[in-house]
Amino acid sequence: MNASRIALVTGANQGLGRALVEGLAARLDPDSLVLLTGRDRRRVADAAREVAGLPGTRARVEGRVLDVTDTDAIARLAEELRAEHGGVDIVISNAVARLLPEESQAARADEFIDVSNTATHAVLRRFGPVLRPGGRLLVVASSLGTLGRLDPRLHHLFDGASLDQVESAVESWREAVRTGTAAAAGWPRWLNVPSKVAQVAAVRAVAAERRARDLATGTLIAAVCPGMVDTATSRPWFSDFSQAQPPSEAASAVLDVVFAEHVDPGLYGELIRFGQALDWHGGTPLVEQDRLLTP
Ligand SMILES: NC(=O)c1ccc[n+]([C@@H]2O[C@H](COP(=O)([O-])OP(=O)(O)OC[C@H]3O[C@@H](n4cnc5c(N)ncnc54)[C@H](OP(=O)(O)O)[C@@H]3O)[C@@H](O)[C@H]2O)c1
Repeated sequence: MNASRIALVTGANQGLGRALVEGLAARLDPDSLVLLTGRDRRRVADAAREVAGLPGTRARVEGRVLDVTDTDAIARLAEELRAEHGGVDIVISNAVARLLPEESQAARADEFIDVSNTATHAVLRRFGPVLRPGGRLLVVASSLGTLGRLDPRLHHLFDGASLDQVESAVESWREAVRTGTAAAAGWPRWLNVPSKVAQVAAVRAVAAERRARDLATGTLIAAVCPGMVDTATSRPWFSDFSQAQPPSEAASAVLDVVFAEHVDPGLYGELIRFGQALDWHGGTPLVEQDRLLTP
């Protein structure tokens, strides 16, 4: 990785994203730049100013408005970083739309899928090509993102799929939610589950295409699971929160992956949790959270 690095985090004005920016700003050199991005100008500016003023901050921190549902804006920012800096070294796709159990999943599906999935596809397509050798492109997924979380009838949609095929699968899921046929087809009610599986599948698809080239240059593309993090987004969904980490602690484990000196081929393209690859075919469907939801 270059000594002077350019880093970018999406959905970074609060929660895990903000903690990732804080950790990057503390661990990168003073001549590096961390872009704290989010959808709301005021929240982004406030967060960037606060992080820049923290005692541990060493790198420069700048706020940038990036609503990840605007895929043209993702493309423009990638192009801008290529033109101005010759590319980017660290990209962390982290944004998520907050869902509540009492909300209709169908009513929120379009926004949720746009933020988590359509945006992830755009980040992979636009930032992948401008990632400098030795760079890191991480998608924050979850341990819910393994194939075993889905009904076996759905596995073929994501297993070994190309990015275009993952995108088609996501759109077929979106359509099933819209038409009220998702549960009958085996889709979990909680949008977060198919969404995370699709994020991991998208990363796997892109990583499969670039693996040899990236490993030769010490570049890493992977999905990461931060473990349970105490944020307003996760609290409503779990009855036992005793193991939840503060965002700073969860961010630190993710950043250990970013700052690892060498890329472990066993982690490349995988879903990484606390430094270990999770089995893509592992996991079982969730029962508790789906029960919380009305049909
Ligand atoms: N918390 C957990 O236990 C946990 C566990 C596993 C994985 N994760 C993953 O970790 C990531 C961060 O989650 P979190 O718990 O930190 O969530 P959070 O505290 O709700 O933060 C989500 C961030 O995404 C931003 N966002 C929402 N819509 C956006 C859009 N259209 N464009 C740009 N940014 C947008 C939010 O901005 P606003 O402030 O403007 O709303 C906020 O900054 C997510 O990918 C989540 O799935 C979390």
